[in-house]
Amino acid sequence: MTRDLLYLLAASLFILGLRMMSHPRTAARGNLVGALGMAVAIGATLLSGGLDVGLLVLALVIGSALGVVAALKVKMTAMPEMVGLLNGFGGLASVLVAGGEGASGGVAGAATAAGGFIGSVTFFGSFVAFGKLAEFLAVKWKLKPWQAAVKFGFSGAAAAGAVAFAVGGELLAAVGGLAIAGLLLLRRETFPGMTAVKALVLALALVAAVTAARGGSGYWTLVAVAGVLGVLLTWSIGGADMPVVIALLNSYSGLAAAATGFVIGNTVLIIGGALVGASGIILTGIMCRAMNRSLWNVVLGASGGAAAGPKADEVYRTVKATSADEVAMLLEAARRVVIVPGYGMAVAQAQHAVRDLANLVEREFGAEVVYAIHPVAGRMPGHMNVLLAEADVPYGKLKELDEINSAMESTDVCIVVGANDVVNPLARTDPSSPIAGMPIVDADRARTCVVVKRSLGPGFAGIPNPLFAKERTLMLFKDAREAFVEIAAAVKAR
Ligand code: TAP
Repeated sequence: MTRDLLYLLAASLFILGLRMMSHPRTAARGNLVGALGMAVAIGATLLSGGLDVGLLVLALVIGSALGVVAALKVKMTAMPEMVGLLNGFGGLASVLVAGGEGASGGVAGAATAAGGFIGSVTFFGSFVAFGKLAEFLAVKWKLKPWQAAVKFGFSGAAAAGAVAFAVGGELLAAVGGLAIAGLLLLRRETFPGMTAVKALVLALALVAAVTAARGGSGYWTLVAVAGVLGVLLTWSIGGADMPVVIALLNSYSGLAAAATGFVIGNTVLIIGGALVGASGIILTGIMCRAMNRSLWNVVLGASGGAAAGPKADEVYRTVKATSADEVAMLLEAARRVVIVPGYGMAVAQAQHAVRDLANLVEREFGAEVVYAIHPVAGRMPGHMNVLLAEADVPYGKLKELDEINSAMESTDVCIVVGANDVVNPLARTDPSSPIAGMPIVDADRARTCVVVKRSLGPGFAGIPNPLFAKERTLMLFKDAREAFVEIAAAVKAR
């Protein structure tokens, strides 16, 4: 009874926390409220008796220590990898708990199969997402030692699991394990007949799920086949669509947890899992709209694809470089300035320098300065909002795509700071491009566009950007923070 009341309290705190996270002003507190809910849920579980508290506390200490170290060490720009991994661990936990319970038949059997199926797709799909973001899976170039260790270590572990299954007589699970081990070594994102293979594996996984749900046996075969499906679904998704995939896997991890909640009869796990599943799918929908992708294509892993399109040498024939002084001069004459932040601003931690320049230009030259926020700029949803909020940029100055683009032609200076894909006009003009159809900030339509980045290097999608060679574009080749400090000094000197 007390346990159930505490679970109710925990679930209420989760919902309240989520509600608060929907606005930047209350988001940080919302996060704490959610964490408090989790603490209540853990406390209630520990108090409920019948559990090996010593073992649980040991697991908590190890898990919390790893979590704290990761949260402190992992850079903001590596958040998608981190989130991808965390989703994967959620999926793996569901696989292990549902499998450990070994329920068969009825609701519990169906829930066990669902937990194993979705959990395994999530775990292996998330590993692939992590590997692609951290650039050690489906790539041809040379790997750093840690990348090689993770790539070949994981493949090796899957192969070892396959051998163990074979020895134990679970031949189908062994084949699945070997397939996972082999697929992870591929160096291309697609292979001939991939769609047919996906459809076949999906059918096999569904059969395995029904078999496992009915009889309780074949659970590990289900996990292995679903794992192959998870790898295949994520493997073919192009880099620029990774944010959508991560959101989708996040949703899957919640659904797997909810199914596992049914297996072990734990209400707070059902509620918590359902909340993650629902909020993940809402986020996926928002990201799909932002990228102009169909959810169905992403679910089936049919989105994106290998980088194609024009060669950099051809695109960059007419690039013009500029200096901080020249940019200051342009700003002096401007009435309306738009700043488009991207991943490079995060790398350079330039948000404070950007804000300082914006304030200076408003104060000294009387221009209006606003910020264009692209929904997938940076490496995680809301990345730019978080950075600019940290630099105390008023929320009202952050403008969404529609609003910014409708006034772009009357914008005197558009400064792109470390953004690339989100201002790439190829999205509008090249249907074969991996970012084809993605809405962009129309920086190329401003009267003058200044792009601050260190080189002509590509962004996340790995393609050249014709914006850099447009007649009205000037390139300031510098680290973003240094560049903004220098422009501010030049503005002060005028
Ligand atoms: P990107 O297209 O990734 O381009 C970032 C640019 O920043 C690079 O071209 C790089 O050029 C520049 N840069 C790096 N360090 C810099 C520094 N210290 N100073 C100045 N510039 C620097 O960034 P974007 O336009 O923000 O687009 C985001 C991309 O990431 C999209 O393709 C999106 O799909 C993908 N993605 C987004 C998310 C989410 S949810 N936001 C998650 C995963 C992936 P140089 O090397 O020449 O400096």
